[in-house]
Amino acid sequence: MFENKTEKEAREDILGLVKEYCDKYHAKKPYEEGDRISYASRVYDSAEMVNLVDSSLEFWLTSGRYTNEFEKKFAEYLGVRYCSLVNSGSSANLVAFMTLTSPLLGDKRIKRGDEVITVACGFPTTVTPMIQYGAVPVFVDVTIPQYNIDVNMLEEALSDKTKAVMIAHTLGNPFDLAAVKAFCEKHELWLVEDNCDALGSVYTIDGEDKLTGTVGDIGTSSFYPPHHMTMGEGGAVYTDNPLLNRIIRSMRDWGRDCVCPSGHDNVCGHRFDRQYGELPLGFDHKYVYSHFGYNLKATDMQAAIGCAQLEKFPSFVERRRHNFDRLKAALEDVSDKLILPEACPNSNPSWFGFLMTCREGIDRRAVVEYIENHKVQTRALFAGNLTKHPCFDIMRMSGEGFRVVGDLSVTDRIMNDTFWVGVYPGMTDEMIDYMAKTIKEAVNGGAN
Ligand SMILES: Cc1ncc(COP(=O)(O)O)c(C=O)c1O
Repeated sequence: MFENKTEKEAREDILGLVKEYCDKYHAKKPYEEGDRISYASRVYDSAEMVNLVDSSLEFWLTSGRYTNEFEKKFAEYLGVRYCSLVNSGSSANLVAFMTLTSPLLGDKRIKRGDEVITVACGFPTTVTPMIQYGAVPVFVDVTIPQYNIDVNMLEEALSDKTKAVMIAHTLGNPFDLAAVKAFCEKHELWLVEDNCDALGSVYTIDGEDKLTGTVGDIGTSSFYPPHHMTMGEGGAVYTDNPLLNRIIRSMRDWGRDCVCPSGHDNVCGHRFDRQYGELPLGFDHKYVYSHFGYNLKATDMQAAIGCAQLEKFPSFVERRRHNFDRLKAALEDVSDKLILPEACPNSNPSWFGFLMTCREGIDRRAVVEYIENHKVQTRALFAGNLTKHPCFDIMRMSGEGFRVVGDLSVTDRIMNDTFWVGVYPGMTDEMIDYMAKTIKEAVNGGAN
């Protein structure tokens, strides 16, 4: 088939076939009542598959030209100076947190025993890096129906060991960024925005529309399939701060001091003429380590998919907003049974899901069972109350390693009474209407 063809022509032939294959065998079947409606799904077409195969034909495998393109375009989209692609949202949180422990930050660095204010009502890997490092998460309660940190608790949570606030924008709904940012500025604390569930959400601060993840010192994203956009596995860490960016790169890339990209040597021209630590003068800079880092890079194949997803991304956000609004309008007449979600003031969320809390007399278990039995997938708000999980057993019993400020009664209520359904961009109006009908039936007696 490739006789007398250049490599470029052969590649074009293959990619043409890939497009045809994808259009024919991956075309989405139209929804029919009775089909299961999942809470999330990948939305893609042949552009993603063509990019993926293009990258695999190059066989560079590790980060390369697609990674560079993705990091540049993603930073442009967000309006930040620096973006680093990593292999998951959890890795992004790990890098973000570990960056704040760097000796390069002097007195501002987080040391073991220092405290980080966060919430228990969320995804575990926002908190995991703190515990693994030996910092102390300080949990405060959240509010319903925003499902974000109760900012009235911030001052009470502060101690002379507090160094940072690290929290997520819950299911796309921004937390009160104005209040949290002002608190962090007042007390000279770092702010990490776990933006894994909120890509595309807008928050207006000081008269300026900012995308969530770009207001604090560092933002993180996840590209795991249910998220706002996907590359299978993947994540990103972003910042405007050049020093933080340098540390992020080091933490991601084995802890090394050198900034040469994989496969490139001596970009700075000083590979063999400097002295570091107690190493001999001229020791190869490529193998000088300024941090205890990791290798959390993604592959170029993941980045290739991300480049194609990014092109579609603005339309994804619009569709998520449309789906959310349609579902909310349809459920208004059961708002005496279910507390419906509300956007944070001054925000325009890029919703990840639609959260509902059962009012008194409505049994969540029965409601969720009814909805699931009628082919609509539901989810809990992740950990509910993270401190109640088996991973906290030892710390709970010893009373060491974390602090709770006030009580977590709203968090507990969410653990017991809250559930959510999806609003992903592949959902049609018909699917939204069916979900609304099913949820209404469930709370109007169908479930009891
Ligand atoms: C708020 C939040 N942070 C972090 C993560 C972790 O992302 P990943 O699954 O890519 O590791 C998730 C996962 O869904 C999440 O919801």
